Amino acid sequence: MAEKRAQFGTKIGVLMATVGSAVGLGNIWRFPYECGNGGGAAFLVVYIAFVFLLGVPAICAEFSLGRSSRKGMPLSFRVTDGSRRWDILGYASIIAAFMILAFYAVVAGWTLEYIMDSVTGLFKDTPNSDRHAQFASFVSGWRAVGWALLFLLINALVMTGGVVKGIERVSNILTPLLFLLLIVFSVNSLLMPGAAQGLEFMFKPDFSKLTTEVVLGALGQAFFSLSLGMGCLVTYSSYFSDDTPLVKTAMQISVLDTLVAVMAGVIIFPAVFSFGMSPAEGPTLVFEVLPNIFHNMPGGSFWSFLFFVLLALASLTSIISVSEIVVAFLCDCFGMTRIKATCIVTGISLVTATLCSLSFGSLAELNLFNIFDFLSSNVLLPLGGMGLCVFVGWRMKRSAYLEQMKRESGVPAFVFDYITIGIRFVAPACILTVFIAGLL
Ligand code: PFF
Repeated sequence: MAEKRAQFGTKIGVLMATVGSAVGLGNIWRFPYECGNGGGAAFLVVYIAFVFLLGVPAICAEFSLGRSSRKGMPLSFRVTDGSRRWDILGYASIIAAFMILAFYAVVAGWTLEYIMDSVTGLFKDTPNSDRHAQFASFVSGWRAVGWALLFLLINALVMTGGVVKGIERVSNILTPLLFLLLIVFSVNSLLMPGAAQGLEFMFKPDFSKLTTEVVLGALGQAFFSLSLGMGCLVTYSSYFSDDTPLVKTAMQISVLDTLVAVMAGVIIFPAVFSFGMSPAEGPTLVFEVLPNIFHNMPGGSFWSFLFFVLLALASLTSIISVSEIVVAFLCDCFGMTRIKATCIVTGISLVTATLCSLSFGSLAELNLFNIFDFLSSNVLLPLGGMGLCVFVGWRMKRSAYLEQMKRESGVPAFVFDYITIGIRFVAPACILTVFIAGLL
């Protein structure tokens, strides 16, 4: 027997759960290295443009579809369209969700190792010069696999226990705490000797650095960071109450999520230059730079403990939202119980996460980690986002999606035009252009 569909209890709970989904490794781990690879400020400018030109309208599109249909993937399309023609988009979302679960669990697992190192004092004992070698040896081994699997099991525990109460309540405390800590670390980083160089890298754009690859990277990063394009927000909004303000929530998510990404950059880049590292180091960047900062701070083990606990929890609220897409799909489409659905999702992810983790060691040639990361973020999410916008903008009745957004008061009329134009024209056209340019 399928269980009754959950519903978020409060408006602040909705905000914390959606911001909890958006804010995660995407901001603190992925953004700095994508930005570093993309030349810094030029990437940031394109990224912010994507967030507000495409991101906000696309969030509104997902919200309208989810709340009006009260279904996740792919049933929201089926119920709205009255046909199965759009199901393919829903199934692509499920595949993307599995890919993200696999590599996300690996990186989230790394945060657990760092929590342990902070407690045991290994952080303090390792000189900064050995950091790179130590991290490389850790990620290539079975210990990293173990942490990824543990993280997936913790995720499963929360999923079966019911997302809304646990996560809503926990997020209410942790999300503000994470912001506070990020401010403390930003200030600390600004006082470092390399601060000026780091800030210049982050905020002084050199547009000659922009290639189509960088633009595609910024597009993928915007979708990944806002949890867009794979129906996560469709699924979450199917749990919204009728009076949840959609446009306001979309704006709040976008602003807060971007703020966290910028703060992560302000923390990382000055430190990168202070320690003579390269900003284009890739996925391991944050895990090698941050420990260097903590190592030099008074009470470093304490700060690093706190930081990685919060990062682990921020990852948890995000990974839960990814799992929720698949769990809701299995419950809605096959009438499974939440527990059974969670067991299936976790079982598959345990295998794929192991393969991803070993991409840093014995399976380096296959490198499933990079393949999953690239395919999901840079291909499936933007294409899924385009499909969603085309569906809502052109297939769903205009009055139907606008009715969802117009339930809140105090939104100026031009905002609805901006959202409609964004959903119908700007988002599909931009995504298509970036894609074709990328292919060429
Ligand atoms: N937005 C999350 C992050 O930035 O870490 C990752 C994510 C969550 C992506 C949910 C996609 C998703 F559906």
